[in-house]
Amino acid sequence: MKLWAGRFSKEIDKKTNDFNSSISFDSRMYREDIEGSMAHAEMIGACGIIEKSESEAIISGLKEILADLDSGALTIDPNAEDIHTFIEGELTQRLGQTGKRLHTARSRNDQVAVDIRLYLKKEVQTVRAMVKELIAVLCNKAEAYASAVMPGYTHLQRAQPITFGHHLMAYAEMLLRDIDRLDSTYKHMDEMPLGSGALATTTYPIDRTVTASLLGFERISQNSLDGVSDRDFCMELASALSIIMVHLSRFSEEIIMWCSWEFKYVELDDAFSTGSSIMPQKKNPDIAELVRGKSGRVFGDLMTLLTVMKGIALAYNKDMQEDKEAIFDAVDTVKMCLTAFTPMIDTMRVLPDNMRKAAAKGFINATDCADYLVKKGLPFRDAYKATGTLVALCIEKGTTLEELPLEEYKAVCDTFDEGVYEAISLENCVNGRNVIGGPASSNVIAQVERVRKLIAE
Ligand code: ARG
Repeated sequence: MKLWAGRFSKEIDKKTNDFNSSISFDSRMYREDIEGSMAHAEMIGACGIIEKSESEAIISGLKEILADLDSGALTIDPNAEDIHTFIEGELTQRLGQTGKRLHTARSRNDQVAVDIRLYLKKEVQTVRAMVKELIAVLCNKAEAYASAVMPGYTHLQRAQPITFGHHLMAYAEMLLRDIDRLDSTYKHMDEMPLGSGALATTTYPIDRTVTASLLGFERISQNSLDGVSDRDFCMELASALSIIMVHLSRFSEEIIMWCSWEFKYVELDDAFSTGSSIMPQKKNPDIAELVRGKSGRVFGDLMTLLTVMKGIALAYNKDMQEDKEAIFDAVDTVKMCLTAFTPMIDTMRVLPDNMRKAAAKGFINATDCADYLVKKGLPFRDAYKATGTLVALCIEKGTTLEELPLEEYKAVCDTFDEGVYEAISLENCVNGRNVIGGPASSNVIAQVERVRKLIAE
């Protein structure tokens, strides 16, 4: 039986009912729906809109329904129109007339708006905690490899020496911004729409501050049309989640490269890699690839939400039922990705010797060689040119700047002396870059300490 019985003379067409129904995806909000209803029942009881005894009976009925749903004693009817209808119907079945009073001074429009906020507020906190966990793992790894020299890249070409710890802490910075974005989204969803009614509030003497404080909302929405039809917080969350996925995807891309024989900077733990059905030698970074691939789903969810919302006149329209699958999928996907990604990073074996070997090739100390001449008084452009000539010479001879004899240096520019070898030693090159934000191992340790403090707050 539909909630709207009375106006209608026929039951809804079966296939149309399936099309119209949201129960298959909104039943996951049963707890929030019941919490919202309990707060509403308490408020309308306190305000004398229904009898106190009825309000109490409704609340205990709802508590029992919640317990039965949690224990599995009650199963959700897949043919119900949505979770709100199902729970109200179940309450009425259990309480008779009294159950029918719950919906006084309320609409499913403000009900669903409150449910989804309650649900997502919790999810934001869960994702936030998971992001923090990944940051903590990065801090541990960065600390352990604070002085592991590796090539830093631009254009995927070896550019200047950095430390592996510094590289990892770049991701920690990105994830810290992700936490900020989640917090800002949380702030926007922390506003209670209940009392907006269908669109224009109600003439009953409700007290919205009661429901807001019972449900733990910071604020009350100030315009009923906006209260029922605001889904900005869904779009914002999907956007924050999309950016998290961009970060995880970039990180995955690097893990995938680092696992290849061409790099071999890391080796994933067997528990977080997969084999090939035909090639016995293979160990594949499937988890990282899947995370990179799943970013597409989350971006798609964001596009869904933006597109659903962009053309609907105020206030509620059924289009908005489409918000749930998109935002739930985005949240589920990010949680799933982090569940696999964080321990994958935690357990991966870092191979600093291979990083060091790669750093020795590619002339990543050429800038330091030029800087050495500048410190001896040469203009930078001349120093740059002399170093370029030396690099070309090394390439021709199949050697490196470290191995090139001093005579060769002097033949190009007689400012060179023995000191050049110390100036271009990779360890010195890295540790000399100790300005704030630099890759020096002392900096990495300081970055780790700073970030650990931030996430402990
Ligand atoms: N299932 C609906 C949704 O998710 C609940 C609100 C229904 N309101 C209505 N006027 N049909 O949006």
